[in-house]
Amino acid sequence: MMISAAKDCTCPPQEQGSIYLPSLAEIVRTKELTKMEKLFEIRFRNGQELGHQPGQFVEVSLFGIGEAPISISSSPTKKGSFELAVRAVGNVTKALHSFSPGAALGIRGPFGKGFPIEELEGKDILFVAGGIGLVPLRSLINYVLDNRSSFGRVIVLFGAKTPAEQLFLDELAVWRKSKEMEYWETVDRSDGQWKGNVGVITTLFSKITIDPKKTAAVIVGPPIMYRFAILESQGKGISNDQIIVSLERRMKCGVGKCGHCQINHIYVCQEGPVFSYAKIKDIKEAI
Ligand SMILES: Cc1cc2nc3c(=O)[nH]c(=O)nc-3n(C[C@H](O)[C@H](O)[C@H](O)COP(=O)(O)OP(=O)(O)OC[C@H]3O[C@@H](n4cnc5c(N)ncnc54)[C@H](O)[C@@H]3O)c2cc1C
Ligand code: FES
Repeated sequence: MMISAAKDCTCPPQEQGSIYLPSLAEIVRTKELTKMEKLFEIRFRNGQELGHQPGQFVEVSLFGIGEAPISISSSPTKKGSFELAVRAVGNVTKALHSFSPGAALGIRGPFGKGFPIEELEGKDILFVAGGIGLVPLRSLINYVLDNRSSFGRVIVLFGAKTPAEQLFLDELAVWRKSKEMEYWETVDRSDGQWKGNVGVITTLFSKITIDPKKTAAVIVGPPIMYRFAILESQGKGISNDQIIVSLERRMKCGVGKCGHCQINHIYVCQEGPVFSYAKIKDIKEAI
């Protein structure tokens, strides 16, 4: 695989050359999050910034192995490097899990439309994260916490299958005590030690009160969760244009050329992965 000659500038990689050519990067740090998921802190070898918006993704290239789209999990307020949290499921992700700090990889992107930050400013935000859905939401949650005065209430609902599958334990420990946000969590199945709520994520909706006129819900999780989390958000009075989701589709190119991510006339890699529910509600295959 060819590697782009990274130019001597700090502008986002996609503005520097071909959208098809990865820029050379390296792993700074890895951290095991669960048995299946690992965090990778990555920086470009020429010191450039990724320049992303929360909700965007990159294509990770492992030379001689392949590429996979992965959400950017760190906030753009973190400078000098960025973070990806990766579940080992197939060729690229399993190989990446075997990489150590210093190892080289290629990055294309950032790609896609992220969360509508300017529209969210001033509003209360209800975050609904299911399992690995916390990976892209963490970028936005940390962005909001780093710009706390620009937003209203921050309510986070997080559901995992079991306590062992909770991601970002250090951050969850901080969020539980934080006065900057209202954090609620649940697991589908307890492990005997768990003292918190047991039940699917929708059981948390009954515990919160919101003002629907000034609240936006931002929902990311497994496909099964969307329908029910959207219904609960509507039940709280939140309008469809204030319900924001991120859709995961099988992607290849990430740049609107191959059609792998297409749902009807929509290229998810270009127009998404973030959409308002109002935009996709009539597209049967979307949710
Ligand atoms: C926008 C976006 C953001 C994402 N963000 C993340 C993230 O932050 N973290 C993360 O861990 N993952 C993320 N993913 C998912 C990740 O890209 C996929 O899991 C990807 O397939 C992993 O690549 P791989 O080569 O390791 O796996 P693959 O070798 O592609 O295999 C993955 C799984 O899919 C199956 N599979 C492969 N090809 C097909 C096919 N054509 N049809 C049906 N099943 C198939 C395989 O059998 C295997 O079970 C994201 C995906 C998208 C689109
Ligand atoms: S992933 Fe190729 S068109 Fe969207």
